[in-house]
Amino acid sequence: MLWKGRFDKEVNQQVNDFNTSLPFDQRMYKEDITGSIAHVKMLGMQGIIPEDESKVIAAELAHILADIETGHLIIGGDAEDIHSFIEGELTARLGDLGKKLHTGRSRNDQVATDLRMYLRFEIDLMNAQLNNLIQTLCALAETNTDAIMPGYTHLQRAQPVTFGHHLMAYAAMFVRDLERLTDCAKRMNECPLGSGALAGTTYPIDRFQTAQALGFDRPMMNSLDGVSDRDYCVELANCCSLIMMHLSRFSEEVILWCSSEFKFITLDDAFATGSSMMPQKKNPDVAELVRGKSGRVFGAHLALLTLLKGLPLAYNKDMQEDKEAIFDIVDTVKICLQTFTPMLASVHVQKDKMRAAAAKGFINATDAADYLTKKGMPFREAYRVVGALVGHCVKESTTLEALPLETYQAFSEAFSEDIYQAISLETCLNERASDGGPTKESVLKQVEQCRKAIKKETLTV
Ligand code: ARG
Repeated sequence: MLWKGRFDKEVNQQVNDFNTSLPFDQRMYKEDITGSIAHVKMLGMQGIIPEDESKVIAAELAHILADIETGHLIIGGDAEDIHSFIEGELTARLGDLGKKLHTGRSRNDQVATDLRMYLRFEIDLMNAQLNNLIQTLCALAETNTDAIMPGYTHLQRAQPVTFGHHLMAYAAMFVRDLERLTDCAKRMNECPLGSGALAGTTYPIDRFQTAQALGFDRPMMNSLDGVSDRDYCVELANCCSLIMMHLSRFSEEVILWCSSEFKFITLDDAFATGSSMMPQKKNPDVAELVRGKSGRVFGAHLALLTLLKGLPLAYNKDMQEDKEAIFDIVDTVKICLQTFTPMLASVHVQKDKMRAAAAKGFINATDAADYLTKKGMPFREAYRVVGALVGHCVKESTTLEALPLETYQAFSEAFSEDIYQAISLETCLNERASDGGPTKESVLKQVEQCRKAIKKETLTV
């Protein structure tokens, strides 16, 4: 125990088990060691400890890192956390010299520094995964600009779109997610090291030097804030919640599209599962799990906010609870993106089924009304005439395309032979040539826009 000097008794074993964060914070060993190396080099350069001693400590820390990575040193035992473990190991190897590492530093600024470094790397990984997903969507959209399908409102067939157009709606969401993560990383990239326990230190440390050595843009402005701020965890959790919300909506549609009722897509066998009892089943488990896992991310997000809301400045042990929540959040997002993207890339698109669904649901009714309007009828009147026509079709179990011209004309004299051309799916689609719409030209433009947007986000992984 790093702090046992003040105590007469050994800590109760139960308390020890309750207190330890080693089982979950050991994943930050690399950041912890990197941070310590920067700190000890700074101590040497500032003459706070002799420079040769600083070099020996830095070199031994590098050995410890190598030993962990090669499996020669296993993290474990009853250390209170990863910071205590590394310092304990250093002292076991260097004796009293190892005890100089913690000069002018607290675990409070140490853990805050480690966590920022760890999460900024995770953001890079998620950015790369989002980039991949957006590229997959763009490629799939490009080959489906002709796949006419019903667009829905209220989950009722509304107006025709294409599968490519529909996919690019998701691409737009994921581009925003990517931009949000990049923005979050910018705010996260300030260095708390040197804040000490809360009030800085009496040693002549150089915070700019350690901040720069660790790749931060600058030291954090205020030491109390340095050790107690976890906004970056909440902000990242929010970015992740939005990613999961988007993935979950998308998953819901994938699940619907795979059903016999829709059959717009079929999943590749490699990305579907069967039932142990019902031989006919082909289940979209991946999409269902992604939809389900959004719940745990939202839950952990809320846990972080709740954890912080009543905490007085500065550090409080409550904050140790931040790690399991934010780690679970990023782990979940990563595993979901990693599985969802190849599932999507391998779907078999059933263009004929999409088209058949588009042809049945009166999704050209707006266009039939627009046809009458173009012939001079006020829109409200045109709307009423077509509404009556649709009612007639429903009663007769037929469609607008299949009605004979005489029937049309019985409802309005304004109809003539060109109505069939005006309500064909192709016309309905191609006439909607406004920017952002479903035409091939517009969708290809959207693809270009997305590709440009993701190029702008710099990737370090
Ligand atoms: N394991 C602790 C955490 O994750 C590290 C900081 C401990 N600081 C302290 N004063 N007990 O928050």
